[in-house]
Amino acid sequence: MRKIIINGGRPLTGKVTVSGAKNSVVALIPAIILADGIVTLDGVPAISDVDSLIDIMETMGASVRRDGECLEIDPRGVQDMPMPFGKINSLRASYYFYGSLLGRFGQAIVGLPGGCDLGPRPIDLHLKAFEAMGASMTYEGSNMHLVAGDKQLHGAHIFMDTVSVGATINTMLAAVKAHGRTVIENAAREPEIIDVATLLNNMGARVRGAGTDVIIIEGVEKLHGTRHQVIPDRIEAGTYIALAAAVGQGIQIDNVLYEHLESYIAKLEEMGVRMTVSEDSVFVEKQEQLKAVSIKTSPYPGVATDLQQPLTPLLLKTTGNGRIIDTIYEKRVGHVAELAKMGAQIATRSNYITYQGPNELIGAQVKATDLRAGAAMIIAGLMAQGQTEITNVEFILRGYSNIIEKLTDLGADIQLIED
Ligand code: UD1
Repeated sequence: MRKIIINGGRPLTGKVTVSGAKNSVVALIPAIILADGIVTLDGVPAISDVDSLIDIMETMGASVRRDGECLEIDPRGVQDMPMPFGKINSLRASYYFYGSLLGRFGQAIVGLPGGCDLGPRPIDLHLKAFEAMGASMTYEGSNMHLVAGDKQLHGAHIFMDTVSVGATINTMLAAVKAHGRTVIENAAREPEIIDVATLLNNMGARVRGAGTDVIIIEGVEKLHGTRHQVIPDRIEAGTYIALAAAVGQGIQIDNVLYEHLESYIAKLEEMGVRMTVSEDSVFVEKQEQLKAVSIKTSPYPGVATDLQQPLTPLLLKTTGNGRIIDTIYEKRVGHVAELAKMGAQIATRSNYITYQGPNELIGAQVKATDLRAGAAMIIAGLMAQGQTEITNVEFILRGYSNIIEKLTDLGADIQLIED
């Protein structure tokens, strides 16, 4: 078991560069299974979710070369076999193998996905879409067997009951090689969906409308190899912006696409955060007084649920009181009890969080209850007086590339140690 030790209260300065998007790359890697040639991804983050996906790909027969941020995958040797159980339930995004294996082989034998515990995280919409495309579903022990009639999916008209990133991408993966046209209505519009569609189209797919709520896919017979640059991680960018506003004396965050963060940056401006937004970077000044605001998360382009937790420590610094309402994952509140241990005036109500500021945080022993809660604990630890010890850090390393190195470069006193 590893833990992170932070000696807080230090002012941070300098530059930090955002890595490629976790939520893109975890879909791009499974998407490569659909190609009949080598696919190279540039800008791949150094996160353990990527390690797990590479492991799964190799176990299934892909040949993989990784050199820094460059990942080259030849999927031609991938076998039509049950997915390696145990590896699948370590991460939520393993569900993307359902769509890509169905697209390539017309069947998939898979275990149920894992990931952060944010309350109920059903996959009914994914399965309904596959069924609409002609797949039937049976259970064999802890595995699920999805199989298309004649081992070939057909196009379908699918209306998503709820806006879902995962179900939208998974349906695209299944549909690009299906027979005929698939229409996804009420599709999610997140930038990661555009990124996946871009890769698929560069592989020879015919996907239109990604980034809007109607996506149309004309099935093709074959997809080929290509090279693709992963988009910057908007959640990592938003995390560093909040961190810079909380403890920075002037921090520049590079490789940021402002358009992906408009609603979030608007919220920060409402709080009084002073920053300068340039073409692909954001400079966050040292902050004086900040005003409490209320946050409500919603699907893109609204404030991302993934940024609610990293933003919370900064909210605790503000003057006044406010609420945080997460409309996507009501139970995404694991950070609240941990922040309270550090002296914060914060509490959960039935389906929202309330806080009162300003707070002076004190170092404490806390845990990362999930990935983004872990980011919140790191920011809180940097803000606090004294030492903070964070356990369960595996969650954080799943999604934040080189976070210890990046923060050390900004002047933080932070260490990852073996317990
Ligand atoms: C993705 C992101 C995650 C982010 C979330 C919401 C990845 C790997 N993860 O997760 O970081 O927090 O989007 O932006 O990209 N739902 C159903 N049935 C389904 C699927 C979803 O009811 O079959 C519900 C969920 O419970 C949730 C909402 O739809 O309330 C949105 O979830 P979804 O967008 O699917 O989240 P994920 O794709 O799992």
